[in-house]
Amino acid sequence: MSSIGRGYGKIILFNEHFVVYGIPAIASAIDRYVEVKITDSEELEIFDERLKRANDKIEMKILNIISSKIGVDLSKNPIKIEIKGDLPLGSGLGASAATCVALSRALSNHFNLNLRDEEINELAYYGEKIFHGTPSGIDNTVSTFGGVIWFEREKNIERITLGKPLYIVIGNTGIPSSTKKAVEKVRKRRERERERFDEIFEEARSLAYDSRRYLEMGDLDKIGECMTKNHALLKEIGVSCKELDMLVELSLKSGALGAKLTGGGLGGNMIALVKDEKDQDIIAREFEKRGFKSMKVKVG
Ligand code: PMV
Repeated sequence: MSSIGRGYGKIILFNEHFVVYGIPAIASAIDRYVEVKITDSEELEIFDERLKRANDKIEMKILNIISSKIGVDLSKNPIKIEIKGDLPLGSGLGASAATCVALSRALSNHFNLNLRDEEINELAYYGEKIFHGTPSGIDNTVSTFGGVIWFEREKNIERITLGKPLYIVIGNTGIPSSTKKAVEKVRKRRERERERFDEIFEEARSLAYDSRRYLEMGDLDKIGECMTKNHALLKEIGVSCKELDMLVELSLKSGALGAKLTGGGLGGNMIALVKDEKDQDIIAREFEKRGFKSMKVKVG
């Protein structure tokens, strides 16, 4: 018998990093996912097709934590776990959270646990802690629930209904991004420049409320403006880099309505909002002409 579980990737539309300090953020699931397949086996084995690796240490650790939380003894119930998917790893699109969600769902299906989404989300958060230290929980939440969400630490999530769908191009700097390092950098800088950071954080907070209103209204021009402003704030706290800034500039020059880094920053991905599929192709070509990988997604 085999069981499948999936977890979706995500982009953060507004306020990564600020969210760690209790400021609201907005994120959206994307149509790329991680899939975990579980089959009964003679002995416990994890094979990750993305890494082309068997029994990866971190993945084993996550499996042990999640299985012990749900009360499944894998030494008595050995299984084979196969992990695959089309979400690039380590680039801020939530692949680690999606892996934890997919694994939790597959375990729930395989052992007939009927876990609710809230429980899947909680399990995935335990897994995320292994990858990221003290994550805000935004990645596993979007990966579990899907759609577009308003996320504040320690509060219930709220779903956002978009007034219009968003056509987005994701540009990859090709530089692996370490969220942990970026979060640590912000923490240290904030300690040194507390007053300035408090001001930036307040701007980020009000930008979240404005952006939410424009998303609900479907005002694409304003949403774009807010994204570009958000990028400027992220740059001020030190999590951009020259490649991210270059891709943001390039997309704005090529007709995007707005652009910003997405995820941990210091490399990884950026997103550009465009008005339609035709502009998605134009921007994606501009990125690729310069040797950067791109991905086109439609949200909502
Ligand atoms: O996992 P990433 O790289 O998409 O980044 C997560 C967002 C951060 O705000 C940078 C960290 C967090 O825990 O919320």
